[in-house]
Amino acid sequence: MKIFDYQIRNMIPSDFSQIQEICLTVYPHDKPYTFEELDTHHKLFPQGQFVAEHIPTGRVAGVHFTLRLRMADYHPDDAWDVLTAKGTFADHDPIRGFTLYGADIFVDPRDQHQGLAHALTDACRELVQVENLWRMVGGSRLPGYALVADSVSPNEYVADVVSGRRKDPVLSAHLKDGWSVVKPIHGYLQNDPESANWAALIQWINPQCPPPPEFQIR
Ligand SMILES: CC(C)(COP(=O)(O)OP(=O)(O)OC[C@H]1O[C@@H](n2cnc3c(N)ncnc32)[C@H](O)[C@@H]1OP(=O)(O)O)[C@@H](O)C(=O)NCCC(=O)NCCS
Repeated sequence: MKIFDYQIRNMIPSDFSQIQEICLTVYPHDKPYTFEELDTHHKLFPQGQFVAEHIPTGRVAGVHFTLRLRMADYHPDDAWDVLTAKGTFADHDPIRGFTLYGADIFVDPRDQHQGLAHALTDACRELVQVENLWRMVGGSRLPGYALVADSVSPNEYVADVVSGRRKDPVLSAHLKDGWSVVKPIHGYLQNDPESANWAALIQWINPQCPPPPEFQIR
């Protein structure tokens, strides 16, 4: 399969069941999104819910789900449940939310390693620019960390991945996609044994847009 066999578009309701199936494969420890949740996300912020579609078959190959947050209302260590209002996206703030929060990105294992996460991230970056937002923020899982957690601290692990001394299946891909690490955080996801429940807070700053007033240095 080639990257030009895919298109990035916004999610539509007929995608929901395929998204659930991919979820079950990539997050075997978690409950998949329900139709109600996906429908609410779609209604709240349709332009922030992206799908990579395999054009020849019409199959959903991957997704990137986002919402706009007013980050001054949150702490950098806040968990996914807090940042997404328990997965509802009810905290999406289309007026004062100058940060696009990447709540989730996943690609069907059959379609991985072809640049789809990269293309989905570029679509989000474009949305940040179109909506004149300050930045994108996300929490990167660290699925290589549990294997070495006994002997390597989270700070050391993340620094090694950033410098290229180690490779992590998720963080390395995010770094290639233009994100940079803010810091490791604990307990971001409720149940991520592969990451020893650690994650890396990551961001991309839009060079065209200044920080919102509450973040400006006076
Ligand atoms: C993380 C994830 C979304 C990446 O998706 P992906 O579409 O495979 O990502 P990409 O193809 O853009 O990049 C992955 C790797 O493939 C490489 N790649 C991209 N295009 C390629 C191509 N045409 N040929 C060979 N390799 C390619 C990239 O350089 C990257 O390399 P790296 O692993 O050395 O960094 C995917 O692994 C996933 O869904 N994981 C499970 C869910 C998850 O943990 N999501 C993250 C939540 S924070």
